[in-house]
Amino acid sequence: MGRVAFHGVTKRFGDAVAVDDLTLEVEDQEFLVLLGPSGCGKTTALRMLAGLEEPTSGTIEIGSRVVNGVEPKLRDIAMVFQSYALYPHMSVRRNIEFPLKSRHVPAAERRAMVDEASRAVGLEELMERKPGQLSGGQRQRVALARAIVRRPQVFLMDEPLSNLDAKLRVQTRAELIELQRRLATTVVYVTHDQVEAMTMGDRIAIMNAGRLQQIAPPQEVYARPANLFVARFIGNPPMNTVAGRVVDTGIELPGGIVPCPPEMLEALRARGVEGAVIGVRPEHLLVEAEGIVPATVTVIESLGHERHVVCRLVDGQMIIVRQASDVTPPTEGAAVHLTTDPANLHLFDAQTEERLDLGLVGAGGPAAELAGS
Ligand SMILES: Nc1ncnc2c1ncn2[C@@H]1O[C@H](COP(=O)(O)OP(=O)(O)OP(=O)(O)O)[C@@H](O)[C@H]1O
Ligand SMILES: [Mg+2]
Repeated sequence: MGRVAFHGVTKRFGDAVAVDDLTLEVEDQEFLVLLGPSGCGKTTALRMLAGLEEPTSGTIEIGSRVVNGVEPKLRDIAMVFQSYALYPHMSVRRNIEFPLKSRHVPAAERRAMVDEASRAVGLEELMERKPGQLSGGQRQRVALARAIVRRPQVFLMDEPLSNLDAKLRVQTRAELIELQRRLATTVVYVTHDQVEAMTMGDRIAIMNAGRLQQIAPPQEVYARPANLFVARFIGNPPMNTVAGRVVDTGIELPGGIVPCPPEMLEALRARGVEGAVIGVRPEHLLVEAEGIVPATVTVIESLGHERHVVCRLVDGQMIIVRQASDVTPPTEGAAVHLTTDPANLHLFDAQTEERLDLGLVGAGGPAAELAGS
């Protein structure tokens, strides 16, 4: 069973904490993506799983056993890294065969296993070439085949697509997912690319500064980000977030007070929330003549299938509205108001930056007023 678990795992390098009290479980045959900005601890987490680093504290399990202290080659995992580290003097066949040879698998068996793995990634025609005679994408497949051939319980992949050009990356992304389904294996996949994470992961674990921020299926991470970091990290263009003050009648944003129903204000006060950040995704905003939040259109960026309307609030904060290309655009320089559907608003505590779930869904909220105005 290719289940993996971190229990309270911390890794320090001297005084620096690379991974901070990480607890998460990856289910058998799950495709789990570790996502986060550079330096957040993704590679360190993966290297601990591989046995290339020992945790400072906490336990790591693969299958049903604790693997702390177990040598990498005894962990039943295979790794694919950004740098493929192929042996340049060996043919594709010998590169793929290498891990089997070092395990003393008999020759006939070896040949069958290598053929099967190369077929799985479409390398049959290239078996006698040297890595130097392959494209980046083909080399990447050799690295994959070399991992597959060992039939591990768990694949660990660290930015395996980052050396490929944009087009090849999209294609290989899909192929990797097909392959994972076919092999019915567990994958822990590290990337800082949110598109890769959204498209590939059964679930995404988002990290920042060594700490796990949220672990959930892609759609949930997008629709219900657990805190401001996740809200701003996922989505392109990112979620618009505007800090406001909780006042007697609602939430005060630059340019106007968004009225809130009394029960909502009560819930906010009961939690001691004085500042709230309102978040709304670019595709959920409308540009209208009338409304509560005034803005000025500064730039219109056309991307063909859609456009981004860049606006400034009265205090200069930038807000981006995403419009389908068949909607009539406003003119640059126009004075407008921004509105949205109540269901699409996100609310965060300005102090803790945590998502505020006030249990008032359907009771109306700042958004109801925003939209109704
Ligand atoms: N061997 C090491 N010695 C000291 N510090 C290290 C070591 N390895 C990693 N770190 C530090 O730990 C933190 C996490 O690094 P890590 O490589 O895990 O980040 P990452 O999320 O993989 O980043 P990237 O997206 O840039 O690859 C960083 O601050 C890094 O400088
Ligand atoms: Mg890394």
